[in-house]
This record gives sequence, structure tokens and C-alpha cells, in this order.
Amino acid sequence: MDLNLKGKLVLIVGASKGIGKGIALGFAAEECRIVAIARSEELLLRLKEEALKCGAPMCETVVCDIMECNTQKFARNLLKKYGVFDVVVHNVGGSLISRNHLGGADDWNYALKFNAVAAIDMNSMFIPPMIERGTGRVIHVSSISAVMLRGNPLYASAKAFLNAYITTVGRQLAPTGVLMCSVMPGAVAFPGSYWDKFVKEKNPRVEDFLKHHQAANRFGTPEEIANAIVFMASDKSSFMQATNIPVDGANM
Ligand SMILES: NC(=O)c1ccc[n+]([C@@H]2O[C@H](COP(=O)([O-])OP(=O)(O)OC[C@H]3O[C@@H](n4cnc5c(N)ncnc54)[C@H](OP(=O)(O)O)[C@@H]3O)[C@@H](O)[C@H]2O)c1
Repeated sequence: MDLNLKGKLVLIVGASKGIGKGIALGFAAEECRIVAIARSEELLLRLKEEALKCGAPMCETVVCDIMECNTQKFARNLLKKYGVFDVVVHNVGGSLISRNHLGGADDWNYALKFNAVAAIDMNSMFIPPMIERGTGRVIHVSSISAVMLRGNPLYASAKAFLNAYITTVGRQLAPTGVLMCSVMPGAVAFPGSYWDKFVKEKNPRVEDFLKHHQAANRFGTPEEIANAIVFMASDKSSFMQATNIPVDGANM
């Protein structure tokens, strides 16, 4: 299938490792022009090298901590430098935050900002020029935890909020030509991931988790998540507005 993405300008927020790196390399293989954001310059430069080898005609790297900066101003500066993005992928997030379900506003605000609100703040800058142009793709990396509502309550709640944002705002955007959606991964493993160390030490938790929670009986890979995101970035997803799509090995 020709996804017709060659030359498209793609921003990936949280691109230096794991799923985000897989996403960046997926777009590189489609010969997209990439702007990659993360905190680690070293990892970004490694990604750049791989992305250019994979076929990306451009891979610009921007070091930024989106939890510490003014995200609207940051997004405005990116627009000034690179112009309107064809595709924006928000990948920053995770469950390695407070697990204290009785924590106060600081804990909950952090979880919400990390998994949703920092991206929403940037969208307030990225989306209006897409609407003006009548086309664009805004793709969030959510989690199957958003619907299973298991594990860390702060994480699951923040991703559920993100899904609700995508459904409601995605519907508003649908007639404008801007498609907003999310992909909801199940458990994914890669070198350095949360699950990687348990796999390496042959921890019985792994077998137990897979047996009870992931019917495919294995972890997903960043490439498998990237495949869905690259597809959603293409014109082939043209009737899939405001969707939250599971890519989860039949999580249960
Ligand atoms: N892994 C899983 O099993 C799984 C399952 C379901 C959903 N997800 C979701 O998938 C997404 C990626 O997960 P992952 O496991 O690949 O995470 P990860 O290994 O922690 O990677 C996250 C990416 O975001 C960047 N990042 C983190 N904090 C940042 C910040 N404050 N400012 C800018 N960049 C930042 C990281 O790079 P730097 O460290 O260089 O900044 C990295 O490139 C998350 O939204 C997560 O909730 C993951």
C-alpha cells in the first residue's frame, strides 16, 4: 500500500527512544521530513543518524523538557522555524509517576500534564494553522490502560482523560480536515523499557502478566505501534476521525 507520505513534515514529541524512536524510524522509512523532540541530545543524535540511513531526507533534533518549558511558546517557535506540520505525534507520557492514589493536586496535575495537558497546550498552537489549510493529522500515544483502568490509578486516569479529549475534540475537528486520534498500546518491550529488566532476569512476573493480561502471550514492539501511527498519518485513514485505536495483543 502506498501511504503517500513522502516529504511530509512530521513532528514527534518524545522521539529519542522506545516507542517514540520506533515511530520516528517508521516515518523515516516513508521518507518523511522529521522534527524530533526529547530531553537527551545524545539519544536524539543517535536517532538522527538512524533516521537518515532509513530514508528520511531530513531529521532535525530539538532538545526540550516539555514539563519544564512554556509549551505554547515552544510550539509557536517550532511553527516559526519549520512551518505548519502535516503530522504531529505526541508520544511523551508514562506510568513512572506517583502511584499514590491518595496524593494531592501536585501528583494528579503532574500525571495529567505528562500524559495529556502538555500535548493539549501545544495543540492549541499546532491545530489552528492546520484548520486554515484544511488538512492535518494529530496523533496521540495513549494506552490500553485508559480503557482497562488497571495498574497505576493516576496513569490510567490521565490516559482516560486523554482519550475523552480525543473523542470530543476530534469530533469538533472532523469537518475541518484535521484528523485527531490516538493509538493505545498494550505492554511493549524494548531495550531499557520497564519490562525489559524483568525479561532479562527471567522474573516470573513476566509469564504471569502475559498469561493473564495479554492474550497474544508476548510483548509488543515499538515497530508494531509505529505501523498503526504511520497508517493513521496517511490519507488512508480518511474516515477514522476521533478514534482511540487499540494495538495491544488482545490485552485483557
Ligand atoms: N512501553 C509500554 O509498554 C507502553 C504501553 C502503553 C502505552 N505507552 C505509552 O507510550 C508512550 C511512550 O512510552 P515508552 O515506554 O516508549 O516511554 P519512554 O521509553 O520513557 O520514552 C518516552 C520518550 O519521551 C521522551 N520524554 C520523556 N519525558 C520527556 C519530557 N519531559 N520532555 C520531552 N521529552 C520527554 C523520552 O526521551 P528523553 O528521556 O530523552 O526525554 C523518550 O523519547 C507513553 O505515552 C506511554 O504512556 C507505553
